[in-house]
Amino acid sequence: MKKDPTNSHDGACVAVVGAQWGDEGKGKVVDLLASHFQWIARYQGGHNAGHTVIAEGRKLILQLIPCGILAPGARAVIGNGVVVDPEALTREMSLLEAAGVPLAGRLFISQRAHVILPYHRMIELAAENAPGRVKIGTTSRGIGPCYEDKMGRRGLRIVDLYDRDLLRAHIENAVREKNAIAAALYGGAPLDAGRMFETYVEYSELIRPHIADACALLNQAADAGESILLEGAQGTLLDIDHGTYPFVTSSSTTAGGACIGTGLAPTRLTAALGVTKAYATRVGGGPFPSELNDAAAEHLRQRGREFGSVTGRPRRVGWLDLPLLRYAVEINGVSSLIVTKLDILDGLDRVPVCVGYRLDGKPCDHIPYTVAEFERIEPVYETLPGWQTSTEGLTRYADLPSAARNYLDFVAGWLGVEIGMISTGPERNQTIMVPESRLSSLLPRPAAVTV
Ligand code: IMP
Repeated sequence: MKKDPTNSHDGACVAVVGAQWGDEGKGKVVDLLASHFQWIARYQGGHNAGHTVIAEGRKLILQLIPCGILAPGARAVIGNGVVVDPEALTREMSLLEAAGVPLAGRLFISQRAHVILPYHRMIELAAENAPGRVKIGTTSRGIGPCYEDKMGRRGLRIVDLYDRDLLRAHIENAVREKNAIAAALYGGAPLDAGRMFETYVEYSELIRPHIADACALLNQAADAGESILLEGAQGTLLDIDHGTYPFVTSSSTTAGGACIGTGLAPTRLTAALGVTKAYATRVGGGPFPSELNDAAAEHLRQRGREFGSVTGRPRRVGWLDLPLLRYAVEINGVSSLIVTKLDILDGLDRVPVCVGYRLDGKPCDHIPYTVAEFERIEPVYETLPGWQTSTEGLTRYADLPSAARNYLDFVAGWLGVEIGMISTGPERNQTIMVPESRLSSLLPRPAAVTV
């Protein structure tokens, strides 16, 4: 690919991160922005993510392959920080090919990414239900146990699939160990190493054309001034370090993770875009200070279709939590915020927003460090007027009802960060680009790819 001399935004390297607990609508945002970029890379997580994209009325849920693959001309990368389940990956590749999305020469998988094996799922399912264990409410995809093996320096990387002796020995040893753990601690049927080896050899051949030195590819692209979008999965509050531990996922979901998970240096990043819903949701267990359990919760859940895209579980819902959002803005260095699902708040008389907490009856000026503290805090709300007219599908900021603009201004003012884009429905065109926001200056112009 040659450098486009007319592109005044050469070298943009932009991370798109979830600013809450995942499910913020990053799929739509990345899909929408993808046409501006030449490369789209996933940097962490695995098929626990579910990025829903609605394009020309067709709904696609991508779990592992960056949703930027749908942008003609863009190249998609699965970075070293991702954990890859070859079964899920090959299924998704077939789905895309059947939908007419070409993958040859466009999908690149890091040879350093770690591989999820069946025993990761077996151990996770058993451990989640074991007596005395904190139940995280994971997606049961084997994500945590795979990252455990990575950090324990006993993982299997994509490149290792092609050294058949190593692969056989790895699977035999790991299966022996994991079967023994499962039998001793949890009970359950043992896995068969021989069959697993054969299956993974087959998978390795299916993905072989896509294996690449993804780190080198991305750095060469950046050197050539090509634009890169780094697609985060899950959200800041599920980050292994910065989230509501232990109710988190096992990877670095924040903008810093984008560098670790691709091999692009921090100095390459030109912006971080934080995506938040206009309210809040969470799937699985763990702290959620502004959670609702009343009729308003059911209203938002039904209206917002808040059911997990991967597991179908009903999502917990609540009001927007500004202290947590400010924390996310800080951790990620958010340059511009993108607010999704504004239309779901239509028709409410009033919209409460959490602006602080009280701990044991006293004002609390920090984000709690422990789950016990989280359980004792009470949110402090400011209540803003709602709006009765529909915002669904609006595309111009000026057309928003004044109470909706007031709500957005309040959020942006409280956080001290601009809102650059607002989503008013699931379709690509149901989007408002906020006039005079910095966001457009952070994006490259739609990519002019010359091959
Ligand atoms: P895991 O990532 O499957 O280990 O699950 C850990 C926690 O992260 C659980 O609470 C999951 O519900 C949550 N989680 C993982 N992926 C997503 C996601 O894509 N959206 C929302 N929550 C997620």
